[in-house]
Amino acid sequence: MATTVIETERLILKALTKEDARALFAIFSDHEVMKYWNTEPWGSMEQATCFIAKSTATLENNTQMTLGIYWKETGELLGKIMLFSYDKPSKRAEIGFGISRRYWGKGIVSEAGQALVEHAFNHLGLRRIEAEIDPDNISSSKALERLGFEKEGVLKQRWEINGVVSDSAIYGLLAR
Ligand SMILES: CC(C)(COP(=O)(O)OP(=O)(O)OC[C@H]1O[C@@H](n2cnc3c(N)ncnc32)[C@H](O)[C@@H]1OP(=O)(O)O)[C@@H](O)C(=O)NCCC(=O)NCCS
Repeated sequence: MATTVIETERLILKALTKEDARALFAIFSDHEVMKYWNTEPWGSMEQATCFIAKSTATLENNTQMTLGIYWKETGELLGKIMLFSYDKPSKRAEIGFGISRRYWGKGIVSEAGQALVEHAFNHLGLRRIEAEIDPDNISSSKALERLGFEKEGVLKQRWEINGVVSDSAIYGLLAR
């Protein structure tokens, strides 16, 4: 999962840098963006700085690929997309994404996701990509289905966050 830059019609996907901390914090401290996440919204800039440092380290040691999603025209950071839980022998990883509320519904994740999926299958040699989401997260399920993912099942009562128990829907996409 070496460092890479992926260009699409409107977007650039590339490694996050220290300079992105403020913009990244603004996105992931938003309760609406984090509503279906399995962690709390970020509460301090330090979390953004730590996230970026970890992303850089895991890109360098080939265990994970976290890329910032940037608007090509302006360079603005819109969100992030990642491949994690990478199991090299099984050629499998999990995909995750999140973008600023201001950019929802504009096809950003469809465009970024398509490019990352193609990169994963054609250049990283993955055979399977999976995703785990809250079954109530309709926009995320639609985004996954638009990328060709199939819903493979539901894991009941998988999470408990602040006393709220929730199921997980598991989606999969196979290289073809
Ligand atoms: C889920 C999310 C990533 C979707 O990104 P997006 O760029 O808005 O998605 P797209 O514009 O590519 O649209 C994908 C599909 O979702 C639908 N959609 C987008 N926003 C929606 C909303 N608020 N409500 C219902 N459907 C929505 C689109 O209509 C489209 O469906 P279609 O193919 O039937 O037309 C984005 O809403 C987000 O960042 N949410 C918060 C973080 C999150 O929950 N991440 C997932 C956890 S892994």
